[in-house]
Amino acid sequence: MGTQESNQVAGGTGRRALLGAAVLGAGSAVLGLSGTAAADSARRGGGLKGLPVPTVIGHRGASGYRPEHTFGSYQLALDMGADIVEAGDLVPTKDGHLVCRHEPEIGGTTDVADHPEFADRRTTKVLDGVSTTGWFTEDFTLAELKTLRATERIPANRPHNTLYNGRWEIPTFEEVLRWQDEQTRKRGKQVWIYPELKHPTYFRGLGLGTEERLAKLLRRHGKDKKTSPVIIQSFEPTSIQRMNKLVGNPLAVLLSGAGSRPYDFVATGDPRTTDDLITPEGLKEIASYAQGIGPDLSLIIPRDSAGRLTEPTTLVADAHEAGLILHPYTLRNENPFLPADFRKGTDADAYGDALGAFAAYFATGIDGIFTDNPDTGLLAREDFVNG
Ligand code: G3P
Ligand code: CA
Repeated sequence: MGTQESNQVAGGTGRRALLGAAVLGAGSAVLGLSGTAAADSARRGGGLKGLPVPTVIGHRGASGYRPEHTFGSYQLALDMGADIVEAGDLVPTKDGHLVCRHEPEIGGTTDVADHPEFADRRTTKVLDGVSTTGWFTEDFTLAELKTLRATERIPANRPHNTLYNGRWEIPTFEEVLRWQDEQTRKRGKQVWIYPELKHPTYFRGLGLGTEERLAKLLRRHGKDKKTSPVIIQSFEPTSIQRMNKLVGNPLAVLLSGAGSRPYDFVATGDPRTTDDLITPEGLKEIASYAQGIGPDLSLIIPRDSAGRLTEPTTLVADAHEAGLILHPYTLRNENPFLPADFRKGTDADAYGDALGAFAAYFATGIDGIFTDNPDTGLLAREDFVNG
């Protein structure tokens, strides 16, 4: 991404019942109930039931406007009104702290290359089967990482965001948990976060298992319950299975595009791909340990060879039938990231018809969406629920 780049509502128990209510919220909108009524219905009760549907999730904060995974980005997402902030993608340091970066390699999102004292840390590693050169969080202590500053990942697309290069440091997940509490108090409204475990098999192989570290932090902060405002996601199903044994939080399995294979499956010799996981049987199995899925948007509405949207798949209905909610990723305002039918004008990186794209995806009945532009997503939701 980037350039890198049978609803059990009534009578259900535990997590399934919680998620079922969220599914009902989406279904109500699809069935034509007023959006306000659907949202009000979804707000009753605790946990996920309290989230508006479709839920607008600030992807890496408000990363359309600020360098991703910084407190500047997270704060702006909240200021814009995002229902949940993806704070953050989690990777470990050498001394075992969880920090917020999209991947272990930090050459693309920090000023590490400008630090001569770290020049000899530049190296090449095989990350999930891919040869990767740069600087890796697992080779730095937290104290060392804190001397770096975040920078914009895609300056060619988002030159305005480079204004903020160097302004913010790399957040730790423990700082995020404290920030969540502070912001909840200040705003008088529960702040939700949506951390993702990145490359868990890779890090476990280095002796830096991340699931236990995440569980320990959540417990320490009293946020390890099924009603805690923290949803945990991972592209590796076995990582989510591990989290299911460690904590009670809502869990979501991320799904890459058709034909792709989760890296934990590669490592263990499990031959299944995303195509197997999105069958009714595959979804039923996921629902035995998770409450939601985070599919690539192409699994909701595939694109044709020209990049235009085609017909929606049955994934929304199939996932809801299995009792799972769907939070697909990632919608961005700029032309290069939009389906071809929503691109506008001749300026390659100008905004296209992002509102139209949100409307197309919301119409499928998804329960929420990750977006770099939470303000646009919220306007689109307003149009959708009032339309
Ligand atoms: O977490 C949802 C989405 O963020 C997954 O994609 O690559 O941006 O982490 P990625
Ligand atoms: Ca993510």
